[in-house]
Amino acid sequence: MKIAIAGAGYVGLTSAVCFCELGHRVSLIEIDPGRLGDLQAGHSPIFEPGVPELLLAHRQSGALTVTDSLQAAVDGAGALFVCVGTPPRASGAPDLTALRHLIGQIGQVELSPDLVVVLKSTVPPGTNRWARSALGLPNPVVSNPEFLREGTAIADFFQPDRIIVGGPDHEALLRVAGLYAPIEAPLLLTDWEEAELIKYATNGFLALKISYANEIASLAEAIGADGLQILTGLGLDHRVGPAFLKPGPGYGGSCLPKDLAALRWKARQQGVRLELLPAAERVNQRQRERLIDRLRAELGGLAGTRIAVWGLAFKAGTDDLRGAASATVIPALLQEGAEVRAHDFAALTAFEQLCPPEQCSGLRLTQKPLEALHEADALLLLTEWPAYAEIPPEAIQQAMRGDLVLDARNLLDGVAVRKVGLRYRGIGRGR
Ligand code: UGA
Repeated sequence: MKIAIAGAGYVGLTSAVCFCELGHRVSLIEIDPGRLGDLQAGHSPIFEPGVPELLLAHRQSGALTVTDSLQAAVDGAGALFVCVGTPPRASGAPDLTALRHLIGQIGQVELSPDLVVVLKSTVPPGTNRWARSALGLPNPVVSNPEFLREGTAIADFFQPDRIIVGGPDHEALLRVAGLYAPIEAPLLLTDWEEAELIKYATNGFLALKISYANEIASLAEAIGADGLQILTGLGLDHRVGPAFLKPGPGYGGSCLPKDLAALRWKARQQGVRLELLPAAERVNQRQRERLIDRLRAELGGLAGTRIAVWGLAFKAGTDDLRGAASATVIPALLQEGAEVRAHDFAALTAFEQLCPPEQCSGLRLTQKPLEALHEADALLLLTEWPAYAEIPPEAIQQAMRGDLVLDARNLLDGVAVRKVGLRYRGIGRGR
């Protein structure tokens, strides 16, 4: 089938190349001239493993076309996926400006009456219902939320835990679900609001799980136990499951923080009091403060120290800094008079934009991990890039002037690091 996809961000572009892999023809709509040019030339404007190769392959095969014309994209298409961004407003409400604008435009082009409009953007309950009436056309509207993680988006597309399609038109739901054939996954048919809320409820629960793991890890640390053993034991209970129980510097990214805020905003609007999510947010915030407190305590103050930071991105496999621990921890360290030398495998350019030299004096970004360690009093590891674990502890010890290694991802081999005389501290590792 020919599919039109509006919006070439993470979700739109990843879905576009993956639908091509499934044998569909895709017309991707991008209105930003810079991104459009890149895409037309077969260059990916996003950092997502596997996407550049698939983009090039499907541009060359002709399965993927890229255009700024909505009309050209929908001509002959059986579905139009809406994948525009819904960034957070200060109130926590998602900003639906781009989505509203697009729905207005869809109402003005010539559409085949068979075309299904599919909302994949993360939108608050009630948005699909609104879109259906705002469209002013008889075409069905289907909610089909996405569950793609940055860094593993392609694998998540082909091996989803479930496919959710929601709306009142049963035949349209089955048509949208059919686009994912031959992917095998449980299919859940719901109404619009259920589909919309499943997406938020999932990200909310993932945040709860991470914050719970971080709290248990703190307790383990205080009682002198190994929090990772405790969380492994917890995760082996099939009712809990092992995923998203890794303690760390607190969850980041564009989605968990934004979707929690949106869920709380929606609940407030409905007069429903949510108690757990604000607690998860507080634990997350505290997790970052604890890293700074710990460095301060172990070094006897931060002023005049030099801290090496390994990892800036909110997690490995991405260059995204949204909600990243580095974005709050590094400015706080600088503020207290520490010098910071930081390295990342993908996010250096993005961090320079976030923290330009005139605003972040005392910060130096380095191209190599060992350069960041030069004369450092402490190493703070914030992102779990596997390559950091490959660096011999002897090399770390030789490059530093101090001996403190604070591994906020429990990535390094603590025993090996201690063996070379460094003071290794993990998260939740009371021993
Ligand atoms: C998240 C969801 O996992 C996706 O299913 C969803 O589609 C996406 O949001 C979205 O709404 O678009 P993502 O933001 O890419 O995906 O990142 P996650 O892999 O969920 O990680 C979020 C944060 O939690 C990261 O900072 C990560 O380091 C942290 N995390 C994750 C932990 O601290 N511990 C864990 O055990 C797992």
